[in-house]
Amino acid sequence: MLTSDLTIAELDVDREEDAALYRRAHDAADVASAKLLLGERHGARTADEILAWVRTDAAHDKRLGVGLVDGEPVATWGLTYSLHDNLDVADLGLSVAPAHRRQGVGTRLLAHAEALVRESGRSVVQVWELLPADEGAQDPTTAFATRHGYRSTLPSLRSDLELDPDDPEALDRALAPLVAEAGEHLGDDYRLLTWWWDREPHAWLEERAHLNRRMSTDAPTGDMTSEEQRWDADRVRAWEGTAAAQGRAVVDTAVLHVPSGRLVAFTQIGVPSGAAEHAYQWNTLVLREHRGHRLGMAIKAANLRAAVERFPQVRRITTYNAASNAPMLRVNVAMGFRPVARETCWEKTLG
Ligand SMILES: CC(C)(COP(=O)(O)OP(=O)(O)OC[C@H]1O[C@@H](n2cnc3c(N)ncnc32)[C@H](O)[C@@H]1OP(=O)(O)O)[C@@H](O)C(=O)NCCC(=O)NCCS
Repeated sequence: MLTSDLTIAELDVDREEDAALYRRAHDAADVASAKLLLGERHGARTADEILAWVRTDAAHDKRLGVGLVDGEPVATWGLTYSLHDNLDVADLGLSVAPAHRRQGVGTRLLAHAEALVRESGRSVVQVWELLPADEGAQDPTTAFATRHGYRSTLPSLRSDLELDPDDPEALDRALAPLVAEAGEHLGDDYRLLTWWWDREPHAWLEERAHLNRRMSTDAPTGDMTSEEQRWDADRVRAWEGTAAAQGRAVVDTAVLHVPSGRLVAFTQIGVPSGAAEHAYQWNTLVLREHRGHRLGMAIKAANLRAAVERFPQVRRITTYNAASNAPMLRVNVAMGFRPVARETCWEKTLG
């Protein structure tokens, strides 16, 4: 194929025809790419989750498109611009169907996306991408990214916890000693609170905004360009709306510091309610001032129990952590999570 056969199209996600085209491209490129790395446990977001996010999330500007060869959608590209903070950064997604690689499609789409970023006035491009678990293994990203001037800024790990369908008590057996140990450290000053976003909407909005802000500065960011995110109650409320539109049930467990009345730690799990076999462990944060009391273990174990109690069909939970985040990884390993892939944020400053 000559790259001149490539058509680059931008989509209007409110038009059903465009949404249908995106679904085909996403399956051919993003999902197929994730399956090459991880088989059926790939856990890639579905096209409809992404479309629901693009339609409902007001915290970012988004542009979404496909690459077509002979009218066939074989690639996806997307740009996300945060509107509240990090105003110099553009988040890029780029994926080419495995059978159409090494023919210049990725290079053309990247040039197109970088030109749009320049036009927008932003100059830092970031791309998150999965890599094989084994550092020496061939991967479809590293050579491409480095050739185009991107460098890895936050080496991370994807870890999965597998639950045995034939032994539904196994999780409780594994968690019980961890919960007991964490409980001894809690004392009277700390109390755990658990709620589902769809059952108790808008709970603790201001406190959650504060924790989300701190999440953006207190979790490792490596060499990434990253400034504190701006969160307020409205943004938290809007995020609840987007999760609902995506069909995700989300459970939070937080720690109330009783003497101050403030939330000082939180963790959350998202469960795609239509495909609850595969759940996702998202953010976890214990504020610096409250570390060393086993709060991280206490909230993660309690939240996992809550997720599995409501969705007993969960078989796998996936989480991502900076490879440098030893304390979080220790908690995850104790709970039974095992690394299955690497991931990093590739970054480039446009000249
Ligand atoms: C990375 C990706 C987009 C590249 O798409 P592509 O259409 O194959 O890219 P190109 O054909 O334009 O490749 C350009 C150059 O990148 C390098 N490259 C790309 N894939 C490579 C591979 N598997 N091994 C070694 N070099 C590779 C080569 O230098 C290649 O030039 P060459 O073919 O003349 O040697 C595609 O492999 C993909 O979708 N991977 C998964 C998602 C991803 O990594 N996205 C990009 C994040 S930065």
